[in-house]
Amino acid sequence: MVKICCIGAGYVGGPTMAVIALNCPSIEVVVVDISVTRISAWNSDQLPIYEPGLNEVVKQCKGRNLFFSTDIEKHVSEADIIFVSVNTPTKTRGLGAGKAADLTYWESAARMIADVSKSNKIVVEKSTVPVKTAEAIERILTHNSKGIKYQILSNPEFLAEGTAIQDLFKPDRVLIGGRETPDGLKAIQALKDVYAHWVPEDRIITTNLWSAELSKLAANAFLAQRISSVNAMSALCEATGADVSQVSHAVGKDSRIGPKFLNASVGFGGSCFQKDILNLVYICECNGLAEVANYWKQVIKVNDYQKNRFVNRVVSSMFNTVSGKKIGIMGFAFKKDTGDTRETPAIDVCKGLLGDKARLSIYDPQVTADQIQRDLTMSKFDWDHPIHLQPMSPTGVKQVSIAWDAYEASKDAHALCILTEWDEFKTLDYRRIFDNMQKPAFVFDGRNVVNVEMLRDIGFIVYSIGKPLDPWLKDMPAVA
Ligand code: NAI
Repeated sequence: MVKICCIGAGYVGGPTMAVIALNCPSIEVVVVDISVTRISAWNSDQLPIYEPGLNEVVKQCKGRNLFFSTDIEKHVSEADIIFVSVNTPTKTRGLGAGKAADLTYWESAARMIADVSKSNKIVVEKSTVPVKTAEAIERILTHNSKGIKYQILSNPEFLAEGTAIQDLFKPDRVLIGGRETPDGLKAIQALKDVYAHWVPEDRIITTNLWSAELSKLAANAFLAQRISSVNAMSALCEATGADVSQVSHAVGKDSRIGPKFLNASVGFGGSCFQKDILNLVYICECNGLAEVANYWKQVIKVNDYQKNRFVNRVVSSMFNTVSGKKIGIMGFAFKKDTGDTRETPAIDVCKGLLGDKARLSIYDPQVTADQIQRDLTMSKFDWDHPIHLQPMSPTGVKQVSIAWDAYEASKDAHALCILTEWDEFKTLDYRRIFDNMQKPAFVFDGRNVVNVEMLRDIGFIVYSIGKPLDPWLKDMPAVA
């Protein structure tokens, strides 16, 4: 029986291995992690991450050929194929701080593999890593090899949170990079055989190692660039009276461009886009490609601009002050159908409003109160470390309360800010919400989910990103 071990039981390791186990009953899959709480949660009925369809998949194979364990060394030593899916945060200190990937967790995983292995291994990079990481890992492994042969493969993951299970079952492509040597090609084939259990062969692409590593960074940079492009347009739409949804629709009809990923919003978030672009920028700079680095940097700058612009709209519309005013925050996760808050734009928007002394009542159907307080007190980039290594702030933010539902969050509020596109926000009883709010009552829709006309008829003053401005907002100072 082929044995797979995956180091890192997070958003990638957990769902990816569950789908492999389900589709390959003849393979034993063990997911290991240094976090005892995470592994206990995987072994309970309350999985550590929320992802539609995940529960059902895990239920079918847990205990059959899918296992979760903290006994890392035992399972690594027994495995034929080892996936490494640990955090690769942005460095906060030292050389490349604020840009380069911090490979501390990767390196410690590689050293541990070298220490405990007694048989040949295929080591698969699942985490997103800088180009040429495989070479560094190879050096660590071969310098400690005791005659054991290692083949390193790059197999970046393209799943999107919120649709991870669907993406894993029907991937647009599976990418496998490896050495173009006889042993390298054999290792590529072994991994191909795993995916071939359910992925059509023409969707499994093989490349050299560096192309696979770079393709993942490039894909995320292109995706984020589309969002920043449409968000840049949204600012121009507001200034001119065009409607960004109409512009996106017209642009997306061009088959060379396509309709996906063209929704204007308060900005992109998630654990990957910013981190991977910063990483790309750093690699460009290290290779003397300043122009290329600056080009990609701009994608992040526009994203930051979009979040600032949103906060400025809120404050300037409300007589230039939100001090002491209650603002209902609808949604905190970085997108719908996930409880993940890593780099969510809600953090920057909430911090911006708190900076102007607002009182916030935050509601999200999947994010815990603890997580929200943690996010609002943590410094930038600290979030992307294993949870037990994250600095904990002793107290939460006083001006923040957590609400059980949207109605509680909006009660007596001066304004609502919609920051995640949860479906339930489309069908709220906005008449009831309006009746329970202070007047004038504002809605700032950062995800374009509400029916603007309907809300204006009820009496709200509505701001919706990239849409023709409410007459109220037109008379307010321009935002920058
Ligand atoms: P995560 O933070 O959810 O999971 C990483 C896990 O690795 C944590 O549970 C941590 O405790 C564990 N870990 C760290 N060092 C370890 C060690 N030495 N031994 C054992 N366990 C260790 O991170 P996530 O989101 O799963 O991301 C993992 C990688 O996949 C990152 O490189 C990320 O960029 C990449 N990725 C993430 C995607 C996403 O949507 N979240 C999509 C595609 C790639």
